[in-house]
Amino acid sequence: MKIGIIGSGYVGLVTGTCLAHLGHSVTCVDQDKAKIRTLKTGKIPFYEPGLMEMVLENVAAKRLFFTTEISRIVNHCEVLFICVNTPPKPNGAADLSFVETVAKQIAMHLRKYCLIVEKSTVPVETGEWVRQTIKRYIKKDMHFDVASNPEFLREGSAIHDFLQPDRIVIGVSSARAEKIFRTLYSPLKAPMIVTDIKSAELIKHAANSFLATKISFANAISRICDAVGADIEKVTLGMGLDPRIGKQFLKAGVGFVGSCFPKDVSAFLYISEKLGARFELLADVLRINDAQAKCFVEKIKNSMKTLRGKTVGVLGLAFKPDTDDMRCAPSIPIIQMFQKEGARVKAYDPQAAFKASSILKGVDYVDTPYEAGEGAHAIAVLTEWSEFLNLDWERLKKSMKGRFFFDGRNMFSPAEMKKRGFHYFSIGRPSA
Ligand code: UGA
Repeated sequence: MKIGIIGSGYVGLVTGTCLAHLGHSVTCVDQDKAKIRTLKTGKIPFYEPGLMEMVLENVAAKRLFFTTEISRIVNHCEVLFICVNTPPKPNGAADLSFVETVAKQIAMHLRKYCLIVEKSTVPVETGEWVRQTIKRYIKKDMHFDVASNPEFLREGSAIHDFLQPDRIVIGVSSARAEKIFRTLYSPLKAPMIVTDIKSAELIKHAANSFLATKISFANAISRICDAVGADIEKVTLGMGLDPRIGKQFLKAGVGFVGSCFPKDVSAFLYISEKLGARFELLADVLRINDAQAKCFVEKIKNSMKTLRGKTVGVLGLAFKPDTDDMRCAPSIPIIQMFQKEGARVKAYDPQAAFKASSILKGVDYVDTPYEAGEGAHAIAVLTEWSEFLNLDWERLKKSMKGRFFFDGRNMFSPAEMKKRGFHYFSIGRPSA
């Protein structure tokens, strides 16, 4: 099938590349000329394992193309995916102005039937609004379909998540649209939930909000564990082995962050309020989350007495491992709090240091974890990169001035870290 992807950011590029990998002919569009130039040279503007190789493979096979002109693809594609970003407004609502611009541009050029799909995370009822927007600007009275097909991929494992999904959700209003989706996704083996557009839109918001709720739930319990000296890892294991609860997304840490959860939960809360059905629980989920990074810094301050004049070696800057994404990364507020308390910060991240350097000023960015440790009074782990599991502990310890080790991701065993000679503190577990 011929597919157009409008918006070649994270979601658009992964979706387009994976659809090309499935054998479709895909053109990715973006208004950012520099980005399209970069993509045409086979480079991608962010780090996602396996994506660059897959882009190169599909470009070489002439299944994947890039352009800045929407007009070039609208009438050549059977399906157009809208993958532009929907950033948060100050009041928490999703800013749909990019979606609106794209809908207008599609309408201006549309001359034959096309299935227009919302892939970006959007508030419920956006599908209907996109349909009306296109109807308003379309040049001739003709049939088209709008559908919702939310994506559930995670950064760092996006290709796997796209090609081996748990489910495919499609919200459609015609049998024709459903048939197109069934052909499009026929190579994938996953249950397909076929529903109306509003329900599909809600599935995405409800799923992300539920996952965020699980994380805040675990983080709230971690504070009770801290207060009584219990172990959050054991508590969540004991809870999670009940299949009705499930083990995933119960990992306590410095809070859920990144480009999706904080924005999506805020947007869902805003929508619920606007619809007269305020989802109060989500306000608490956000409150618990906001406090989590502050609690971590408090713990560090209390253990070290003061941060003034101290050096902290930070391991991990990206919002999670296997990505260089710094959007809403917890390292930003945490490092700023360290600096405000008078600490000097040295930081190491395998992928995100370059992006971090334009956001976090006054930080000494280094090339290895050991350099981050040199002369440091404390180490703070903010991203659970697997390479941190196999550090040369003697080497790290020898280069440090102090022995404090603060693990914001519960990566290590307290007993092991004690044996290695550190004063080890983590989240919701007794210190060692
Ligand atoms: C999330 C969802 O997992 C995807 O299904 C969804 O498609 C995506 O948002 C989106 O809406 O686009 P992502 O933001 O890439 O994906 O990352 P996650 O792996 O879900 O992690 C989100 C945050 O929660 C991270 O800060 C992570 O460290 C934190 N987290 C996750 C925890 O603190 N504890 C956990 O147990 C799990």
